[in-house]
This record gives sequence, C-alpha cells and structure tokens, in this order.
Amino acid sequence: MLILRTLDDLRLWRRSIPLSASVGFAPTMGALHAGHMKLVEECRRENSITVVSIFVNPLQFGPNEDLARYPRPFEKDAALCEAAGVDAIYAPEPADFYAPDHATFVDVHGLDRHLCGAARPGHFRGVCTVVLKLFHAVRPHRAYFGKKDIQQALILKRMVSDLAVDVDMRLVDTVREPSGLALSSRNAYLTPDERARAIALNRGLSRARDAFANGERTANALIRIVQMEIETSEPTRIDYIEAVSQSKLEPIDKIEVPAVIAVAVFYGKTRLIDNVTLEKS
Ligand code: PAF
Repeated sequence: MLILRTLDDLRLWRRSIPLSASVGFAPTMGALHAGHMKLVEECRRENSITVVSIFVNPLQFGPNEDLARYPRPFEKDAALCEAAGVDAIYAPEPADFYAPDHATFVDVHGLDRHLCGAARPGHFRGVCTVVLKLFHAVRPHRAYFGKKDIQQALILKRMVSDLAVDVDMRLVDTVREPSGLALSSRNAYLTPDERARAIALNRGLSRARDAFANGERTANALIRIVQMEIETSEPTRIDYIEAVSQSKLEPIDKIEVPAVIAVAVFYGKTRLIDNVTLEKS
C-alpha cells in the first residue's frame, strides 16, 4: 500500500494507472472505524483500485470547534487500510494542500440552510471545497460517503450534479454499534456514561420510523417522538431535531417521501448527529 503525502506524488501515481482500471475513492478525516471500513469494502467491491484520503480539513471546522483535538491516529489508520486491501492513502499536510493565499471555495446554496448548515456556518463550504479538490487530484470513477452525514452526502451529490463532475456518488448505510449508536470518530470523546445515554438518538429515530410505518404523517408528531426519547437521556443540549424533504433539505409539515428526520445532540462537549430516511414502504 502506498502512502502519498503530496499532491505531486498523488498526481504522478494517478497518471500511472491504466485507463482500463476503475478508481474508487473514500475521502476521510481518519480516526477510522467500521463505518469507514464499510466505505472501503464497497469501494473495493466495485473498483480495481481503492484510494483513501486521510486529511483533517481545517476549512470545515468553525473557530470554536474541535480541529485541534480531532483524533489523528495515523499509524493505526494506515494499518487498517493495509489490512482492508487499500491501494493508496493520500494524507497531505494542510500546508501542502492549501496555499496560504487559497481563495477559491465551493458553496452549494440552499441545501446548507438547515440542519448542520444552520449550526455550523461555513462547514459545508469547507467540505465541498476539499472534496472537489480531492476529486480533481484523485480523479476517481466512484466516490463513497456515509449516510450518517446525510446532509453532507446530499450536498456533495448536488455539487457533483451542478458542476458536472464526472464521479459516480455512492452513499453507504450507517454502521451502528450493537446498541444502535451510529459509529463516528467523535464517539471517542464520549465518557462511558455519555455513550450509554447517546443510544437514545437511534432509539428515538427508530420509534419515529415505526410511527411513520404505522401511518403517522405529521412531521411535528414524529419530531415529538424523537424529542421525548432523547430528553429521557438528559442530553447536555439538543441542537436540532428536524424533519426535512430529501430533495431540498427544508423543513416540512407533512411527510412526503423521501424525507429525512435528522438530529444533532450534545452529550458533554460532544456533538453527535444521526438520521433516519423515511421512504415508500
Ligand atoms: O465526512 C468526512 O469525514 C469529511 O467531511 C470529508 C468528506 C472527508 C471531507 O473532509
């Protein structure tokens, strides 16, 4: 497995890949867990070459967010990738990736107004900018993103479609612990007590999905079900619980499929997100 540290090295290697090969790409910020490895697994299944990027992208962190303390266990990540059959890791230094006078950014308007976009101004601009730049460097045929970050996945899909980027976007199901907690690199911040309480996110979303399956179509009623469940877990703060249309990511009163119920909740200083998609049964 190759470890490429600079854009030049990545480009050089990419040019050596025969045209007949298909290149799959899983962009990550490292601190890899089974959710990332599921992206890698799908990527390997569908492509002849698998590239993983490991880059904690400073552009997508707000001034008071966890950029400095974000976990960076590079050796462990590299070992996981190697064992999973990854062909190359691209892990640039921020200074190599962004010039000090970097001045070009990608904004997908509208889809970033609600959910995490409302609470984290500039976050999706950072995500879109890094992903488009990574796409230009890696030139993948297919790219893999987790549905846990559903707003990110849908915004990136829109970016790819609006800017005619020739990458097939693959969305991969959320991987959960047996308890139902969605896997996230940020789970590492949770104390055992917070971790146990955070199970309420999935419990609430699952109850809402069951209520939807039983005919409930009023968004507020479904939101209330999630809220009641989460409140029993004594979260530090509920950032949002929203029901939105999947196409525009705008709040809806009545559920018309496909729709998404998404939550962001703090336990201690850790902000966790999760969601459920409501689809035609
Ligand atoms: O989901 C992530 O880990 C990041 O937002 C991504 C897509 C790698 C961009 O930095």
